[in-house]
Parts: sequence; C-alpha cells; structure tokens
Amino acid sequence: MISRHFSGKLIGIMNTENLKKIAAEKATESVKSGMIVGLGTGSTVYYALLKLGDRVRAGLDIVGIPTSAGTEEIAIAQQIPLTTLASHPTIDLTIDGADEVDVHLNLIKGGGAALVREKIIANASKRILIVVDENKVSSVLGTIFPLPVEIVQFGCEATQTEVNRICGRSTLRLAPSQDGNQQPLITDNGNYILDCHFDSIPAPEQVELQLNNIPGVVENGIFVNRADKIIIGTPSGIRYME
Ligand code: 5RP
Repeated sequence: MISRHFSGKLIGIMNTENLKKIAAEKATESVKSGMIVGLGTGSTVYYALLKLGDRVRAGLDIVGIPTSAGTEEIAIAQQIPLTTLASHPTIDLTIDGADEVDVHLNLIKGGGAALVREKIIANASKRILIVVDENKVSSVLGTIFPLPVEIVQFGCEATQTEVNRICGRSTLRLAPSQDGNQQPLITDNGNYILDCHFDSIPAPEQVELQLNNIPGVVENGIFVNRADKIIIGTPSGIRYME
C-alpha cells in the first residue's frame, strides 16, 4: 500500500502490484493440506506461489503441478513439492491468472505464453480460482487484451492467414534473443504465439471452437465455463465473481 497526503488527508492508494498481491494471497486461503494444486503462470500468481511457499515451509502438505517451466522454477525455489498429471490426473484446486475476464467468468489467457498447459491443467481441475486486478474486468471479451493463439511452427504463415479470417488481424509474438534481437517467441511446447486483435469477442465459445478447428492451431486462450471464482483485487479490497 502506498500512502499519500492529499488535501491534508492521508490517503491509501493501492498500485496494481498491490491489487495483484491481495487477490493472489486471498486465493491461497482455499489451499488445504492434502490437496493436489494446479500452479498457474504469471505475475499475479507469483504472489500466490510466494505465499504457498511460506505455508509449505511452515508445514502445509500439498503437491503442485506447474503450468509452465517458469512456474516450475519458482515453485522449486519456494520448496513446493511437485508432481505430474501422469501421477495425479485429478487436481483439487488450481490458482491461475488471466489477461481479461468478462462478467460471465469467461477468460482470455496466454499473455505469459502458457495457455496450452494452463488449459490442460484447468481441464483436470475440480475447482479453479482466477486471480486478477480490477483493470482486467471487461463487459465483452477481447476489448482489453489481444487473444493469444498457439500455433505450430510448420506452415505458420498459412495458419496465420486462416486465423486472420476469424480475427481480422494478428501479430506473431516476438521476444528478445540472447543477442538482443527480436525473434519469434518459442513456447514451452516449442510453438509460436499469434496475438489476435479482435474488435471484441461477443461469442467466445464459438470463436474458441472455430480457431481450434484450423490445422496448425494447437490451442487458443479463450477459457469458457472453466473458472469457478474470480478473485479481483480493487483499491477498496477484494471483490468476487462466481
Ligand atoms: C499466462 C497467463 C497468465 O495467467 C496471464 O497472462 C496473466 O498474467 P499476469 O498475472 O502476469 O498479468 O495466462 O499464459
């Protein structure tokens, strides 16, 4: 919390990091000993991983399944024991972030390029908590964040042409390489990401299916009917959608 004096009064102002932190930490209160926990990816979930690490070191008995190599690295550093979907095909609770959420609890995910593993983990989860700051809540999906779509490298230009027929315009996601030049980002699965610039996505269920029907598309970041609860950090505290 940042405190500022304004018109002679001390006013508490939460910056976005604080909003992420309070939402993520609130979600960890649902984690109990004995659970298999899906560990999402991103800068919001990061705060949940830190909190879970504290609790594990204090005796919480859980096993996590990470949704990305990055999350796996953080979980190991936090001493959170890990397992795999092969050993534990059913996950009790997953905590994950999102790039945009609508009032029907539909999500856009994949800003951190982990959408494929995140959807697999979501599909295996009995309960899913999504943690966001209030800036990510929109009335219609696709109006805040471009939709990430993971595609295989082979034939990526042809795949992009087909994807553009649905979204209008997409861009191949780039990332700095070791020499500092921009190169196509490679996901944990060895694929590319297209960021799709829809005007809006009023029928997300339909668009999710249409995109996944294109040869070369591995998965897209629309999550429909998957979240059980959205935990939203706001300057006045936590708000829920469920
Ligand atoms: C990664 C994701 C993330 O959960 C999403 O991008 C939100 O990340 P952040 O909390 O950093 O804004 O879907 O693929």
